Amino acid sequence: MGYIPEEIIDEVLQKTDIVSVISEYVSLKKRGRYYFGICPFHQESTPSFSVTPDKQIFYCFGCHVGGNVFKFLMLKEGVSFVEAVHLAARRCGVHIPEKQFNSALSRDYQKKQRAYYVLEKAADFFRKCLEADCGKEARDYLKKRGVNEQAIKLFKIGYAPDNWDKLIKYLTKLYGIGVDEIYDVGLVVKSKAKYYDRFRNRIIMPIFDVLDRVVGFGGRALGDSLPKYLNTPETKYFNKRHLLYGLNLAKPHIREEGFVFVVEGYMDVIACYQFGIKNVVASLGTALTLEQVKLLMRYTDEIVIAYDADDAGIKAAMRGLDLIQQLGCRVKILSIPDKMDPDEHIRRYGREGWQELLKTAKDLIEFKLEKLTDNTSVSVEEKVFVLKNIVPNLSAIKNLVELEESIKKVASALNVSVDSVKGELSTYKKEVKTKDKIKPKLESKKVKINPNSAEHLLLSLVLSDYDLYLLAKKEITPEIFDNEGYGNIFKLLIETEYKLKLKPAKEMCHLNEKEQKLLTYLLSEQQHHERSLEEKMNMLKDCISIIYESHKKRKHQELVNKLKEAEEEKDYKRVNNLLYELQQLFSSEKGGKLFYGRAEK
Ligand code: CTP
Ligand code: MN
Repeated sequence: MGYIPEEIIDEVLQKTDIVSVISEYVSLKKRGRYYFGICPFHQESTPSFSVTPDKQIFYCFGCHVGGNVFKFLMLKEGVSFVEAVHLAARRCGVHIPEKQFNSALSRDYQKKQRAYYVLEKAADFFRKCLEADCGKEARDYLKKRGVNEQAIKLFKIGYAPDNWDKLIKYLTKLYGIGVDEIYDVGLVVKSKAKYYDRFRNRIIMPIFDVLDRVVGFGGRALGDSLPKYLNTPETKYFNKRHLLYGLNLAKPHIREEGFVFVVEGYMDVIACYQFGIKNVVASLGTALTLEQVKLLMRYTDEIVIAYDADDAGIKAAMRGLDLIQQLGCRVKILSIPDKMDPDEHIRRYGREGWQELLKTAKDLIEFKLEKLTDNTSVSVEEKVFVLKNIVPNLSAIKNLVELEESIKKVASALNVSVDSVKGELSTYKKEVKTKDKIKPKLESKKVKINPNSAEHLLLSLVLSDYDLYLLAKKEITPEIFDNEGYGNIFKLLIETEYKLKLKPAKEMCHLNEKEQKLLTYLLSEQQHHERSLEEKMNMLKDCISIIYESHKKRKHQELVNKLKEAEEEKDYKRVNNLLYELQQLFSSEKGGKLFYGRAEK
């Protein structure tokens, strides 16, 4: 934040009704003080997406997305915070005078708009060149590769002529665009103070963002000359990590099909489209990044990776897999036989062949087993290694039948008993549970606090009553929270002197994604309306002591581990220090804020 004047943000928030904005994307029905609808961010059949007008926030009880109207626009429109403020401002008629943008970042935004303009005009130029006389060879090349007219139109494919400065001349003479502006978007190269067109004699594939804006280009050589592909270099406006080729077109088809194919290259996407497979995007030759997976998860929770079955392809796939699952997405791997890529396969075997191939897609467990064991006899150590590697993936499987099947598969592949796989799995689950599985318990009438939810409960209490907040502030510091997200929310609550509760839509801009989710959840659930203040006070005290207790336990474990280490290393000075710390830990009083304040660095 900070680069749009606060007053403007305030004004926009005041004039904007989150219900009417979200209604443009989601059909909402009123229920009490909430509105409910089908969540636009995950697939569901019963509405768990809620909008709370009096707090001007949204929250999904299913996928836990939440935030203010800016957040909604950011997610839904794939824009930055500034852009979301702009979109909202435009909607409610708040004029943002250019002079107001006094900081560097706001000028950046304007430059960005200009860059999009330059890129669009460049794309026009390439397209025209493909149709012109100079594009004959390129048209022939595309024909030879089976790219038809429709695909050329749809993907706005173009041609960069074999000329040093045709693009520069076109943009500067016709549109008064400066060479430096063309340079900024990566379309020219500079050599000895002279500028040249970067792309020459290449087929040009414009790369779009989700909002259908041209952000960069891929250029393929017409023949075998090298490099085969030349792409827009990383610029301020073009960051491959955040982009997927074809996503602008594939969005509705991904929703419709319920999953997405991720392929490697431009030509793969284009070929798939021609054969009627439209839920497909390309990662542009790299391993899937976190950002790309998140982008895809706006539209689906199942990703099918279709990479060439060569070593590089598999390695690229491997790196992305756990990442995808960690984010809560199902993943399958489609290995294409005979060293073909999707482009070659689908052109040879057609749509039916592709559908057949899809049936052979392996789930993550099968794929990992295959790669990790490579079918030779496995030593005990290897079994342990593989099991440890796969158990986290098993634990992510929600469906019981599917889990049962997968356990069997693992047991048989490793030639161990089903029970030992199950044993390993439950050990792992216990470990995780104590770590970060904090499942909030809703509306429990009887006040019995589950240690895992103490931090959640504490915050919900504190958010329900200012007096409780004051009490908590005195008794506990954010640093001792186990869950960093809750800790940060508590911290911000203190820093904003409770404004985080009073004006959440505004103040939550300072929280990260995950924390915004937690906060909006806390604010959207029932906040103990039915309880007396005294009852809540007691609950709060219990929460505080539970949180201290578990902090103490963690601290203890940490010290014990360090002690073991120091003993092994025969570092007796450190051993002594650690013993002293342990002693202190035990002699400190329960809830002794001072001690913890000092011990935490
Ligand atoms: N790639 C790239 N630069 C390269 C090689 C590859 O950016 N020098 C990216 C491109 O996005 C390309 C993808 O990696 O589409 C996959 O590369 P590759 O399999 O070599 O190319 P294909 O997509 O098969 O291209 P073609 O069919 O035209 O040979
Ligand atoms: Mn290819």
